[in-house]
Amino acid sequence: MSNHLLSISDLDTDRLHALLRTAEQFKNARYRGSELRGKTLAMIFEKPSLRTRTTLEVAAVHLGGHAVYLDARQVGLGVREPVRDVAENLGRWVEGVSARVNKHETVAGLAEFAGVPVINALSDAHHPLQALADLMTLKENFGRLAGVRLAYVGDGNNVLTSLLEAAALAGLEVVVSTPEGYEPDAGLLERARARFVRDPFEAVQGADAVYTDVWTSMGQEAEAERRLRDFAGYTVTPELMEAAGGEAIFLHCLPAHYGEEVVEEVAHGPRSRIFDQAENRLHTVKAVLAHYLGGRPWSG
Ligand code: CP
Ligand code: NVA
Repeated sequence: MSNHLLSISDLDTDRLHALLRTAEQFKNARYRGSELRGKTLAMIFEKPSLRTRTTLEVAAVHLGGHAVYLDARQVGLGVREPVRDVAENLGRWVEGVSARVNKHETVAGLAEFAGVPVINALSDAHHPLQALADLMTLKENFGRLAGVRLAYVGDGNNVLTSLLEAAALAGLEVVVSTPEGYEPDAGLLERARARFVRDPFEAVQGADAVYTDVWTSMGQEAEAERRLRDFAGYTVTPELMEAAGGEAIFLHCLPAHYGEEVVEEVAHGPRSRIFDQAENRLHTVKAVLAHYLGGRPWSG
């Protein structure tokens, strides 16, 4: 099994459940441990972040360790210095590296040469740390993951990719609804045994949870206007939540663009669990650091 967490596919079912169990224990016990005592995490960011940066740093501190924030522009990742050299340097100083990158190959390159565990803190292709918090939130709400029905409405992006990979391991029943041209990879849909339904109102029927993400991801700003037009009709509104049966919870990885992929009434309404999800980013990332950097055993 890989020493790195570049995508959810780096996990198997046992490891996925181990991470979720550890995260639940940490949350219930308001855990502050010593797994990272004397250890340092380097955090490279090529893109902005609120949740990922804060939770990685707070998690490192809660586990007795330390995190160093590195602005990729200042490091000159791949510009001032090749990715390989940055990785080989960092590997001599720190016990783990996290990286939020424009291109997935950059985080993969860091993993190849760092000699210490590398955690993907979001790339154009994957967002594994988000999917862990998403699963934890679903499990909290439904007491299980297998058979929970999740409807994802919006862009077939990095967040959906990690969610589908996680669904495949956990046995979630996913229905995906995107406009034409924004579908996720067909092979991935098949691996996750997910259904694709073009009409969002049909897609959400019988859903336990409705999930959406921004229509324009970081790095796609030049396409924002076209995307606004293409995604018309895919907004999560009270009417769409009603079509899900009225009991469904609402999920979003955040940040949200209110009035685009979701209206504020839903995101801040009684069925919304977006801030539980955000909280669970802390507990799940703590579990990731404890297992990957802290030597916490995967079983037992
Ligand atoms: N959901 C998420 O990754 O948030 P940030 O971009 O703020 O880290
Ligand atoms: N899909 C979004 C997620 C942000 C957390 C992006 O990549 O910008």
